[in-house]
Formats: sequence, structure tokens, C-alpha cells
Amino acid sequence: MPGYVSTFQYQSAISHAPQFAPRSYRHFTVSPITGAMGADVEGIDLATASDAAIAELEQALVDHLALMIRDQSLEPAQQIAFANRLGRAFPWPFAREMEGYPEITELIQEPGDKYAFGGTWHSDSCNFEKPPKYTMLYCVECPPVGGDTGFSNQYLAWESLDPKLRAELEDVRTVASAELGYGTGSQDAEVLANATTKVTWNPELNHETLHPLARTHPVTGRKALYTCDSFTARFEGKTQEESLPLLRKLWAHAVTPEFTCRLRWKPGSLAIWDNRCCMHYAHSDYPGHRRHMRRIVVEGERPV
Ligand code: SIN
Repeated sequence: MPGYVSTFQYQSAISHAPQFAPRSYRHFTVSPITGAMGADVEGIDLATASDAAIAELEQALVDHLALMIRDQSLEPAQQIAFANRLGRAFPWPFAREMEGYPEITELIQEPGDKYAFGGTWHSDSCNFEKPPKYTMLYCVECPPVGGDTGFSNQYLAWESLDPKLRAELEDVRTVASAELGYGTGSQDAEVLANATTKVTWNPELNHETLHPLARTHPVTGRKALYTCDSFTARFEGKTQEESLPLLRKLWAHAVTPEFTCRLRWKPGSLAIWDNRCCMHYAHSDYPGHRRHMRRIVVEGERPV
């Protein structure tokens, strides 16, 4: 047998404990989706939920990282009101606002669009000093199949790194740049020009931000890997060229299939996720169909 070098490594079995023993919630039912993360939620009306139900929903988000809340009927103002119960909904500066509702970005992909907003693995706006803690999408219209949002659990990504490497990376910081994700170089110009919803590059918002490579979640105290190719330019004190070999390994590791789930859409479903401990990815596998979401981000804290 020729002496080949192995080019792959098996992932050791790994799982996120709350997926297997969901709490018994008083105000709604929770059905976990994979061993890694994600849950379907039924039996709550976000427009009329009590404070106790909203507090319990935030607990479910801590436990499962991303929730798909079914059977809602939310006008834009009601979605904004719900978001403001979780923190401060704020206008997202890189896309056109929904008329009359500055906190909402309408994500619309028409049947002929080739550009998929959010079609890379990322944590939202980690180029901000204070990136959003939560993002929520309310589904107005979706294809009969396809257009799922994928998620990856970044606690598992950090905890499953080789312990020696993890020790070396413990105090490392990265430099995030908006130009990478939203700059003109990041997308085929013609595809972007024809997109119905696109990020609009604003050079005035192009500043670099330093964040820990592993951030500590303010509620759970657990560390999560916090880097993505959309925004991380380099390690602090290193050039992009010096940083890329290790960054590329970390980005590939971050989306190991065992860390992931996919949430399937239906009109009237609202997904909400915690950007401090998971990444997400908009699947663009529905040519010829329309997808329409209303997106809101909720302000977070400075990552530590
Ligand atoms: C996003 O990246 O915020 C959008 C994800 C999606 O449309 O599924």
C-alpha cells in the first residue's frame, strides 16, 4: 500500500447537554432539533406573552441557542415591540430600512436573485464594538422547500479544540473589519447590483475592532469560539498572511457537522438566535422561488 498521508480526522462524539434534557417550560413547549443545538417552540403568542413567558423564552434561548417559534402573526410594530422586551432593537446601518420601521431590515430574495444575504457562516456584525446579542427573523414568505437557516454551536467549537491549542489561544484577540464582509470586494459586482436586498457599503463605518477569539457568554460563563471569515481579518499583532493558515483551520472546525442544526421555515415562524455563542448561514437553494423575512437585531454588550 502506498504511504498516503491522512487528510481527514474523525470528529469525536460531542453534544450539548440541554438538547437531551430540555427543561419543562411552563409557558410553551420546546422540541430540540439536533444533539448540538436548536429547538422548535410552540404554544406562545409573542404579541401578547406575559413578562414571565418572555423571561422563560430567554432561558430557552440560553439552553438551545436558536429557537424557531411557530404560528405567529406579527405586524412590523409588534415584532419591534417584542424585540424591545429583550433589549434595545436598533436600526442596522448596512441595509435599507423598512419604510416607517427603521429597526426592521426586509430580507427579500426574488426568484431571479443570485445574491443570498447572509450566505456565509457568520455571527452578526462582529465588526461592531457591541455586536447584537440576538437576531430575529420573521418569515413573511418562504419557498415550499429550501431556504433554511443553518446554525453552528460555538461553545462546542471552542470546547472541542485540542487542549494544547486552546491554551495557546485563550488570550488571543482578533481584528474584525467591516470591509471584509460588506466592502465592494466581497461580492461579484454584477450579482450584487441586481440583488433585491443587499448590504450597502458605507466607508464611514469602516473601522477595525478588537475582540477576543474566545468570548465568554455573560449568562452561562462558557467560552465560545468567536471568529468568522466574513469579518475576522487577522490576529492582533500579526498580518493577514501570517494569520490566515490558523484562521482557516478554525473556520473549518467551527462548522463541523456535529455542531450544527438547520431550522426550516414556514410563513408566520419567527427564529431568534444568540450571536454570542452560535454562527448562522442562509441556505440559498431555492432558485425560482421567493423568500421574504423581516429582520431585527437587539443590542449586545462588548465581547469579553
Ligand atoms: C442573516 O444572516 O441575518 C440572515 C439569515 C437568513 O436569511 O437565513
